[in-house]
Amino acid sequence: TVPNDWNSQYEDLYLYEGKIWYRRNFDFIPQAGKRHFLHFGAVNYECEVGLNGELIARHEGGYTPFDIEVTDFLKEGNNELTVIVDNTRRRDAVPTVNSDWWNYGGITRSVELLSIPDTYVRNYYVAMDKSAPSSGTALINAWVQLGGEDLASRKVTLAIPELDVEAQAVTDADGYAELSFKADPGRWSPETPVLYDVIVSAAADKVSDRIGFRTVAVKGDKILLNGKQIFLRGCAVHEESISQNPERVNTREEVEALLDVAQEMNCNFLRLAHYPHNEMMVRMAEERGIMVWDEIPCYWSIMWENQQTYENTQQQLVDMISRDMNRANVIIWSVANETPRCPERLEFLRKLIDKCREMDPTRLVSAAMEKRYIDREAGLLTMDDELLEYADIISFNQYVGWYDGSSDKCDKVVWQFPMLKPVLVTEFGGGAVYGNHGPDTERFTEEYMEKLYIKNLEMFSRMPQFSGLCPWVLKDFRSPKRHLAGIQDDYNRKGLISEKGEKKKAFHVMRKYYE
Ligand code: GCU
Repeated sequence: TVPNDWNSQYEDLYLYEGKIWYRRNFDFIPQAGKRHFLHFGAVNYECEVGLNGELIARHEGGYTPFDIEVTDFLKEGNNELTVIVDNTRRRDAVPTVNSDWWNYGGITRSVELLSIPDTYVRNYYVAMDKSAPSSGTALINAWVQLGGEDLASRKVTLAIPELDVEAQAVTDADGYAELSFKADPGRWSPETPVLYDVIVSAAADKVSDRIGFRTVAVKGDKILLNGKQIFLRGCAVHEESISQNPERVNTREEVEALLDVAQEMNCNFLRLAHYPHNEMMVRMAEERGIMVWDEIPCYWSIMWENQQTYENTQQQLVDMISRDMNRANVIIWSVANETPRCPERLEFLRKLIDKCREMDPTRLVSAAMEKRYIDREAGLLTMDDELLEYADIISFNQYVGWYDGSSDKCDKVVWQFPMLKPVLVTEFGGGAVYGNHGPDTERFTEEYMEKLYIKNLEMFSRMPQFSGLCPWVLKDFRSPKRHLAGIQDDYNRKGLISEKGEKKKAFHVMRKYYE
């Protein structure tokens, strides 16, 4: 089935790494004045695309969309589309060979054949200016990029009917136009996730989207949404369905099930780990007023010195931002997770952060970094990654009570940070098998996990600049690194709910804390 991974669909493909061929026949009727594109939501990890026996494209990157113009390859009547997918991990790939999540292969998101006008709206960006006040009339900036032919000197219109906006501009020689205008939109926020119909038209093309308007910024050690301090009541989540046979999320119902659990926990923020999730996830979270941390799979020991690896990573970043830059709920771009500190890594990530800011000056940029002991005996902890100089927030993963001592250690450690920026704990937690009860000193019991959460929350109350947290992780998820028989059985058990959606005791600790 497409869209879906192959591992969850066939017993004998559960562990399969390699190539799988997909073939689809379809009828086509040519239409004058139209161009035709194949749009893939994502294919993990790389693929070759053939149409009527011709190789028309290759793509690498398992979690970002791509488009292929097929106007000249289609023929009237029956057409045969072939996609060869290969999910084999590679040392020079992104992610690399070692990651703590299941390597679900396949055409994991939808495939569409789009027929659009010869001159079309290729992309657009609409955002409230960073200087906008928390209410009232504000400046809104936009750009529109046309594609196809006859791009130059074309009139572009951007309309927001509910705000009486009808802005116009004329494209330059490259089909690019900028528009700025004033309006007084209701601000998007978790409490008021208001979205407006925005219609961008040029030549014979017309594209409509639902867009929210808000500002996000940091000021000292505070995160501000629409000029007001906000605390991020978060949770980390993998793109895996709640089921006794989990799969890559690929339906609205699977997204709703995950968002329902997050909102039952009183979350207003989700860290979409460790790669861009299905576009549905971002859009449906936006409709519910859930803010999002959007991340590329630049995870662990990437080949920092390899130029192709950098270009691949940058392309995945560009594709993530191009897809989600009009989503008001995306407030933070993340360029990495737990990457070992070295000069080549710093240079690699600094360039990615520069790319983020160049494409989108309106959001925060950071990465999930790692803690360090200043004095292990004294329990003095910090997060002084040299990347902090380029990041907007001090965001890091820490596992005091799990990988680092037991829960009581939380009482003994002291945190201090080298600069005045907001602190966001992007991972903490520990494992438990749902229904496994015992003393709170025995790991993998629900009681141990519950106490670990209580102790971590107490520790955070003593953490300076504390602006938000993301328990790792919403749901038990499949990982090739989790083999303890009877305990893990291929699952990372740090979920606040089991893979079937059963709530562990720690879930209720988080629900009450956020309440
Ligand atoms: C790491 C990593 C996660 C991993 C988690 C764990 O911090 O970022 O991807 O699943 O720890 O060990 O459970």
